[in-house]
Amino acid sequence: MVKKESYLDRVLGRIETLDATNLANLAQKLARERSYLETIFNTALEGILVVDEDGEVRYANESGRRMIGLKESDMGSAILWRLIPGLRDSLGLEEGEPLRDSISSRELELTYPEQRYVRMYFLPFKESEGDEDKQFVVMLSDITSEKISKEETIESEKIASILLLAAGVAHELGNPLNSLTIHLQLMERTLSKLEASPSSEKLSNSLQVCRGEVDRLDGIIKNFLEAIRPQEPDFQILDLSLVLEEVLEVVGSELNDRGITVEVEVVSEAPIVRADRNQMKQVFFNLIKNAMEAMRPGGALKIVSRADEEKIYLRFGDSGSGIRQSELSRVFQPYHTTKKTGSGLGLMIVQRIMRGHGGLVGIDSQEGVGTVVTLELPKRNRKIRMLEG
Ligand SMILES: Nc1ncnc2c1ncn2[C@@H]1O[C@H](COP(=O)(O)OP(=O)(O)OP(=O)(O)O)[C@@H](O)[C@H]1O
Ligand SMILES: [Mg+2]
Repeated sequence: MVKKESYLDRVLGRIETLDATNLANLAQKLARERSYLETIFNTALEGILVVDEDGEVRYANESGRRMIGLKESDMGSAILWRLIPGLRDSLGLEEGEPLRDSISSRELELTYPEQRYVRMYFLPFKESEGDEDKQFVVMLSDITSEKISKEETIESEKIASILLLAAGVAHELGNPLNSLTIHLQLMERTLSKLEASPSSEKLSNSLQVCRGEVDRLDGIIKNFLEAIRPQEPDFQILDLSLVLEEVLEVVGSELNDRGITVEVEVVSEAPIVRADRNQMKQVFFNLIKNAMEAMRPGGALKIVSRADEEKIYLRFGDSGSGIRQSELSRVFQPYHTTKKTGSGLGLMIVQRIMRGHGGLVGIDSQEGVGTVVTLELPKRNRKIRMLEG
């Protein structure tokens, strides 16, 4: 690919030929451009940082500096892991391990300089082709008010916990409904080839009624899912590896049919948390289904559970198609799907349930390599902290 030469490239290409006046003009022009860009970056409400693979902050705009409590003079030396404790663990990096070459999305609680929740995206980039120096743009958005309003809804709605189960059921009704639609179409097609008779006409009318009813059901389910909110979880002490086993038993034959292997590893201690059994099942089911749908025969799903002093981390790593950078910020949006038959609600439900448990969902993905979804949950001995409204 021929790279288009920029104005700057052209001028720098003949910099030796410039006289003092032209050089001074150029320096002035560059300074103006720089301050113009800086003003734009500093006007942005989103935090924008640039870090290297070791987490050293090379650049931060004003919003970014304010969010993470970074002094302007510390740009170029501060390490992101020190400014945001818990971030490196959340990214699953050991001490000294460089950032991986994947796009990542994380939700995090910041405690300094203010308590707030932020969503962070890590997007790797290179300044030029063949550049060995790995850098990442880190985008930060403040989602504190979004979280507070969600938590208020969970608190204020005292509808029976059966609603969430119903949400799961309704979500799952999508597939059989699709199959019904296809078979009804097939029946219509076959019928149209048969000789017309009073009974074939009757049959055709009945089929039309069926089609209409299936469409109606589809609409009811969609609206239902949109309208409901997750219910307060029915907390019990659970060993998540046992809950996971139950889900794997249910989906085992489908994974098998698709030629996908599953490996579960529990590192160090059992993942014991305070959680709602059915809701956690729903979370696991939705994540396994996504992994399954992203992979071809021969694919592998690896689920690893790990713990530190405060949290349990569950990683669902698949060897599937991965997520495009442009899609990353949309995967949790309701009805966002890249699948023909997807409803685009799976990850939204996962996120809502995790929030109800004081937990978080993170995503790392590399196109063509695979995706890792990480669930973070507070350990059972740690009280779930709700933000004060
Ligand atoms: N493991 C994964 N690998 C690749 N892409 C994924 C993965 N998980 C989610 N995605 C992307 O995120 C989108 C949203 O996922 P989500 O589970 O919310 O909806 P869906 O799978 O499309 O539909 P459904 O409601 O049936 O789950 C997917 O359409 C897909 O593009
Ligand atoms: Mg899904």
